[in-house]
Amino acid sequence: MEQQSIYGIHRPALDRVMNGLLQHIEKIRAQMTETLGMDPVEHCLCRIKSEESMREKCRRNHIPETTESALGKIRDAVGLRIVCAFVDDVYTIRDYLKKSDQYEIITEKDYIRRAKPNGYRSYHIILRAENQYYAEIQLRTISMDTWAALEHHLKYKKSVGKRAALIEEELKRCADELASTDLSMQTIRDMILEQS
Ligand code: GTP
Ligand code: MG
Repeated sequence: MEQQSIYGIHRPALDRVMNGLLQHIEKIRAQMTETLGMDPVEHCLCRIKSEESMREKCRRNHIPETTESALGKIRDAVGLRIVCAFVDDVYTIRDYLKKSDQYEIITEKDYIRRAKPNGYRSYHIILRAENQYYAEIQLRTISMDTWAALEHHLKYKKSVGKRAALIEEELKRCADELASTDLSMQTIRDMILEQS
C-alpha cells in the first residue's frame, strides 16, 4: 500500500507558503534595487523538504514520523536560500523580513558574526506563516555559498582517516579567507556608492 505523505492534507499549504515567501522576497528585492541601483540578490533557491529527508530527520531527532512532527517540531519543511553579492545586503534583507507583518520571526541565528567552529557562515531565520507553517530562510553571500556547497560535498566523501584534522583545518582557513575577501568587497562597494 502506498504510504501517505508525512505532510498529510497540509502539503498544498506548504507550496502556498513557499510561493508567498518567494513573492515577498521579490518585492524586497525590487525595493532594494531601487535604493541601491543594483539587484542585491545573486540567486534564490527554494524547496519543500522531500518526504524521505523529512522522515530521516524525524528519525535522527528521535521523534515520531508524523504530520505533527514534520510541521511543528521540525521547522524547515519549507526552505529558502537567498544568496547575495555583499554582506550588508544580507542584513538589509533580514531587516525587511522583520518588518513584515505577514510573517512572525521565531528564531534568528547569526552564523556570520559568529561562524560555526568549522567555518560555516550564513544568517538563518525561522519564521512562521499563517500562524502555523514554519519556514527556514538562509541568507548568505556568494562566497559563503561557495564554501558551504564544497563543504557539503566533502562531508559525504568516505572517511578521510588521519588526514581528517588537516582537511578540517584547511576548510576552516578557506572559510576565513573568503570572509576576509567578503569584507574587502564590501569596502570596495561602499567606496563606489560614496562616489556616485
Ligand atoms: P538541522 O538539524 O540541520 O536543521 O540543524 P540545526 O537545527 O542545528 O540548524 P542550523 O541552523 O545549524 O542548520 C540548518 C541548516 O543550515 C542545515 O540544514 C544546512 O542546510 C545548513 N548548515 C548548517 N551548518 C552547516 C555546515 O556546517 N555546513 C553546511 N554546508 N551547511 C550547514
Ligand atoms: Mg535545518
